[in-house]
Parts: sequence; C-alpha cells; structure tokens
Amino acid sequence: MGHPASWAPLLVLSSAWQLVLGGAAGGGRRSPHNIVLILTDDQDTEIGGMTPMKKTQVLIGQAGVSFPNAFTVTPLCCPSRSSLLSGRYPHNHLVRNNSLEGNCSSPAWQKSQEPLAFPSYLQGQGYQTFYAGKYLNQYGHPAAGGVQHVPLGWTYWNGLVGNSRYYNYTLSANGREEQHGQHYQDDYLTDLITNRSLEFLQKWSHPPFLMVLAPPAAHSPWTAAPGYATAYSTTKAPRNGSFNVHGKDKHWLVRQARSPMANTSIEFLDKAYRERWQTLLSVDDLVERVVGQLKALDLLASTYVFYTSDNGYHAGQFSLPIDKRQLYEFDIRVPLLVRGPGIKANQTRLEPILNIDLGPTFLDIAGLNVSQTAMDGQSFLPLLVTPAQPSAWRADFLVQYTGEGYPTGDPACPALGPGVSQCFPDCVCEDAFNNTYACVRALNPHSLQYCEFADRQAFVELYNLTADPHQLHNVARSVDPTLLEALNQRLIKLQACEGPSCRA
Ligand SMILES: *[C@@H]1O[C@H](CO)[C@@H](O)[C@H](O)[C@H]1NC(C)=O
Ligand SMILES: *[C@@H]1O[C@H](CO)[C@@H](O)[C@H](O)[C@H]1NC(C)=O
Ligand SMILES: *[C@@H]1O[C@H](CO)[C@@H](O)[C@H](O)[C@H]1NC(C)=O
Ligand SMILES: *[C@@H]1O[C@H](CO)[C@@H](O)[C@H](O)[C@H]1NC(C)=O
Ligand SMILES: *[C@@H]1O[C@H](CO)[C@@H](O)[C@H](O)[C@H]1NC(C)=O
Ligand SMILES: *[C@@H]1O[C@H](CO)[C@@H](O)[C@H](O)[C@H]1NC(C)=O
Ligand SMILES: *[C@@H]1O[C@H](CO)[C@@H](O)[C@H](O)[C@H]1NC(C)=O
Ligand SMILES: *[C@@H]1O[C@H](CO)[C@@H](O)[C@H](O)[C@H]1NC(C)=O
Ligand SMILES: *[C@@H]1O[C@H](CO)[C@@H](O)[C@H](O)[C@H]1NC(C)=O
Ligand SMILES: *[C@@H]1O[C@H](CO)[C@@H](O)[C@H](O)[C@H]1NC(C)=O
Repeated sequence: MGHPASWAPLLVLSSAWQLVLGGAAGGGRRSPHNIVLILTDDQDTEIGGMTPMKKTQVLIGQAGVSFPNAFTVTPLCCPSRSSLLSGRYPHNHLVRNNSLEGNCSSPAWQKSQEPLAFPSYLQGQGYQTFYAGKYLNQYGHPAAGGVQHVPLGWTYWNGLVGNSRYYNYTLSANGREEQHGQHYQDDYLTDLITNRSLEFLQKWSHPPFLMVLAPPAAHSPWTAAPGYATAYSTTKAPRNGSFNVHGKDKHWLVRQARSPMANTSIEFLDKAYRERWQTLLSVDDLVERVVGQLKALDLLASTYVFYTSDNGYHAGQFSLPIDKRQLYEFDIRVPLLVRGPGIKANQTRLEPILNIDLGPTFLDIAGLNVSQTAMDGQSFLPLLVTPAQPSAWRADFLVQYTGEGYPTGDPACPALGPGVSQCFPDCVCEDAFNNTYACVRALNPHSLQYCEFADRQAFVELYNLTADPHQLHNVARSVDPTLLEALNQRLIKLQACEGPSCRA
C-alpha cells in the first residue's frame, strides 16, 4: 500500500473561501449546518479494517470525500479521544494513558481541558449536542465524579461507564445510572446507540445540532450481535506486508517478540481479526440507519457526517499478535470519510489530516475562529468543499506515546519482570513503560518517519516510506547524519508547539 504524497502544500491566499461558505470569525453567525461524528474504536485501515463497512463506504465515502492519509497523533484510546475532543496534542492536554493517574477523564482534565473542547464551543454557538457511547476510558469512575458527572457541553448525554463493552454495562443517561444486562434486544450497545440517536433525531433535534456516536466496535471483547456471530467464518488476518516479520532492527519491545510467531498466537490473532469484523457489521447498520433517518427527516443536505476511529490496529505485524500502541502505519493511520453540504461525491484528498483537526473543523462549520482557541489542529473545511479552497496545509506532524506498564510486571506473565504490559498468548508483550516515543511523520516533500525513544538506549528509528512503505528497514544508522540532525530539531520544535506554532 503506501499512499503517494502527491499533493503540494499551498500558500494561504486569502480568506475568501470563508465568504463562499458563509463562515466568518467571531461568534455572531448561527450555522444552519448540523454535524454527526461516528467514532469507532481500534479500527485500522492498513490491514483491511474498512472491508466490512460496505454500506458506510457508499453512504459516506462515495457520497463525499475519503482521506487515505488520516492519522491519530497518539495510538491509544484515552489519549487519542482526549486529542480529538480538545483539538490538542498530548503534550498540551496532558492525558498520558488510560488510567486516572494518567489524566484519563480525571478531575484535572475536567477542570482544565473539558471547557476548551469542541462540545462546549458548539453548545455556546447554539448547537444542541447529543452523545451516545464510549467516552473516555475512566468516565464514570467514582474518583472522576461518577455517573453524575456529565461532561461540559452536552445537552443529551448517554455515556458508557468505563471502557468498551457490548453487554453488562452501566450508562450515564444525563447523569442518571442505567444498568444493562446481556439481552440482545434491550442491551447490545452498538444497537442501543443507533436507537437512541434515531430517537434524538426524530423527537428532540432542532438544527443546528451535533451528534457524536461512539460504538464499542471493533475493540475487545469483540462480542458480535447474534445475527453476525458466524460471519467471516473463514477469514484470516492478511499475511502480507510485515506480517510475521521479526522487527530485529526496531526498539526493544518489538525485538523481544517471538518470530516466527507460535501457532497459538496466530490462531488467537485470526480469531480476534474475524470477531473484530463481526462487531463492525453492527456499526455498518448504525451508519445506514442514521443516514436513512437524516434523509427521512430532510436533514441530510444540511448535515456533515464524519466517520473515523480513535486509532489503528495490528494483527501479526512485526510478529506482535494484536494491539495498537506502536508508531507504525498500521497503528497510527485511521479511516476518515466525510459527506455534507458543498462536498462533491467520490472525492479523494491526500493531505495529512489528524484527529486534532476534527474539533477545529467543527468550530469552523459553526462559524467560530479556531485561532482564538487553544487548539493545535487546523480546520480542513476548506479541503472538503468543491472546488477545494486554497489553504496552507501541514507537511509533517507529531506522534507521541507514553508507554503503559506494571511496576511489578504483567500478572499474566510474571517471569518477564517489571515494566511490561499487554502480554498476549505466549507472553508476547505489546507495551512497556519504555515504549515511550515521539516521532515526526513527514509526508511532503519526502515520506519519512523519525522517532526517538525515552529508553535506556535512547533508541532511534527512521523509515523512508517512499522506498519502504511497510517500514521493514530502520535506516537510522545508515542515513546522512545531517538528516537525523534536521529531524531531531524538527521534533524538538513540534514537542514544544502550542496552537499556531503546531499549525505552521
Ligand atoms: C481569527 O483570529 C485571529 C487571531 O485573533 C485573527 O488574526 C484572524 O484575523 C481571525 N480570522 C478571521 C477570518 O477573522
Ligand atoms: C494486505 O492485504 C489486505 C487484505 O487484502 C489489504 O487490505 C492490505 O492493504 C494489504 N496490505 C499490504 C501491506 O499490502
Ligand atoms: C494532569 O493534568 C494536570 C492539569 O492539566 C497536570 O498538572 C498534571 O501534570 C497532569 N498529569 C500528568 C501525569 O501529566
Ligand atoms: C453478563 O453478566 C452475567 C451475570 O453476571 C454473566 O453470567 C454473563 O456471562 C455476562 N455476559 C457477558 C456477555 O459478559
Ligand atoms: C433497537 O430498535 C429495534 C427496533 O427498532 C429493536 O428491535 C431492538 O431491540 C432495539 N435494540 C436495542 C438494543 O435497543
Ligand atoms: C503450526 O502450524 C503449521 C502450519 O499450519 C504446521 O505445519 C505446524 O505443524 C504447526 N506447529 C505446531 C507446533 O503445532
Ligand atoms: C461514486 O463512484 C462509484 C464507483 O465508481 C459509483 O458507483 C457511484 O455511482 C459514484 N457515486 C456518486 C454519487 O457519484
Ligand atoms: C499512567 O500515567 C501515570 C502518570 O504518569 C502513571 O503514574 C501510571 O503508572 C500510568 N499507568 C500505567 C498503567 O502505565
Ligand atoms: C525496557 O524495559 C524493559 C522492562 O522493564 C527492560 O527489560 C528493558 O531492558 C528496557 N529496554 C531499554 C532499551 O530500556
Ligand atoms: C527515499 O527513497 C526514495 C526512493 O528510493 C529516494 O528517492 C529518496 O532519496 C530516499 N530519501 C532519503 C531521505 O533517503
């Protein structure tokens, strides 16, 4: 695969496009345009993750724009979702991992970041706001305010307590606890999100509105709806690219993976791969029903619909059985499809779009000036409308990750010693405290990725993705040292960026 970086960064010509769109600075204008965001979990684009989404590809992708170069700035649920909500890089929102101590949904996040996230701004612009599904992994924890805490900015709130579940979960329904069991007709979470969103559209919505729908798929425990539990019965994870290749020139954690993988690991990852696809079929139904409802209510022409995921995924790449949390393309690339007013059908745009650009784009749709907020991302609304309007676009960006571990070692694999976590069959560990890195990912003029690790070796990885799209060869030791020096300087700049300096 590998996508050609054939777009050219353009100069900012003027803000004339804003007149075309009716967008402007300040808070005076009320947008007639609604926004729907469908946010999946752990859905890759590099290993076939969009294959089950047949209806979604037609109803959103073919009806609008596909962005094959969409990325998360951090490949883990809570930090990534925090970036999406706040429009900020992790070094600015300070959510480090999936636990409360790492600021996931913590009181500090609630106090310092939630007020700056896009829901508050949109609500302030007169938007009616509706949320259903998984929010931040520690949402609902007693130390984070319990189910009574409804995050700022939401008019209608159906937030899942804790991490991804399909059955046996608790919701906060506008601050009231709601228990769910394991009866498909009443409880299957993806369908419940669908039903509540249809009901919102039918009974309560009045434009402009924002809806965020965050189903648990395709995250573990991969529980399919009964009707889909036997789908893809012969599907296996693809055996191409870096599948079952030993990452022997990579950082410590990847080097420790057993390669070739044990058969038990391969069986495990094939099963997970199938089950992930099964859970996505219910999301494909969600998309069909929500788009159908918008159409039936005559709202489709005035509504932007965005489809994306919080991070990518791998299944056997570099002999790592399953997870995200790595710097490679399979983990940082995400799907991004958009349809809506002014967007021509069947478009593909190659500019790199980040999850921190969604908030700025929503603000832009609502007529707000992103430069007057703390957001690090930039609006890609000018790239959506046809003909695309001139806009300066980034040539590179930052990817950051803080490794998770257990001080005493993963309880599943005690012999491995301290510091590691996410150890799957055969005790191949997918994370560790020293899996902490920062990267520059450049797409233009060259497709490169340069990463530095905070580990004892101060390990460096460098990939020339033009020559090596599957990142098989770490060229950090063989490349011209002046290139390493330039990339190191760029990384230092990006790691200190804030707002406008992240966009430059
Ligand atoms: C947005 O705000 C910035 C910073 O205050 C200002 O320089 C810029 O002119 C504004 N943009 C528009 C289109 O008004
Ligand atoms: C491998 O195959 C899958 C499924 O056919 C495809 O989606 C993916 O793009 C391929 N990846 C590479 C690295 O060729
Ligand atoms: C959590 O966020 C608060 C406030 O933003 C910050 O002071 C603190 O350092 C953060 N914690 C971590 C572990 O980064
Ligand atoms: C749900 O909880 C019940 C009762 O504790 C348990 O028997 C069942 O296995 C759980 N189902 C799922 C899908 O987790
Ligand atoms: C969703 O609504 C459909 C009918 O519209 C119903 O059959 C199904 O049981 C509902 N599912 C959930 C989880 O509410
Ligand atoms: C592992 O699987 C391969 C291919 O299916 C088979 O040839 C081999 O015998 C298996 N090894 C073990 C130890 O089961
Ligand atoms: C988009 O392209 C597909 C495949 O080429 C085609 O079937 C479809 O009709 C096109 N859709 C629109 C709305 O033009
Ligand atoms: C999450 O981050 C906090 C703050 O740095 C740290 O204390 C905690 O150990 C981390 N949690 C895990 C599971 O790594
Ligand atoms: C990373 O951490 C693990 C587990 O704590 C340790 O065994 C390993 O030596 C460390 N590697 C580096 C390069 O720091
Ligand atoms: C990357 O690979 C391409 C294609 O082989 C080559 O033209 C280019 O010079 C390489 N870039 C670097 C920085 O090595």
